[in-house]
Amino acid sequence: MDRQIAKQKAFMTMAFGGPNNYSGADMRRGHAHLVERGLNDSHFDAVVENLGATLTELGVSDDLIGQVVAVCETVRGDVLGK
Ligand code: HEM
Repeated sequence: MDRQIAKQKAFMTMAFGGPNNYSGADMRRGHAHLVERGLNDSHFDAVVENLGATLTELGVSDDLIGQVVAVCETVRGDVLGK
């Protein structure tokens, strides 16, 4: 989990316009073995929902959360191998 958290953090920082220190796999390659095991839209939806709920809990505005969700949606196809 420590490695996963570090990769997630670096990827999100880069995806949301911060410095690019991400050196992990691209989203298609990083999740291909999970797609083989049944990763689908319902799992992606759950991740986006949890992220939104966490940001709400932290007091982030709905407008900014909408922007975050929009960025997440740009990788849905790659994460799910579509
Ligand atoms: C916004 C959508 C997502 C983003 C930005 C994201 C980001 C990442 C990143 C950066 C990695 C590391 C890739 C590497 O190994 O170099 C990763 C791996 C992984 N992701 Fe995601 N992910 C997303 C969606 C999901 C979903 C929906 C699931 C499952 C519910 C998931 C489960 C995993 C798991 C289990 C790994 C580790 C795979 C391994 O090391 O064997 N991810 N993800």
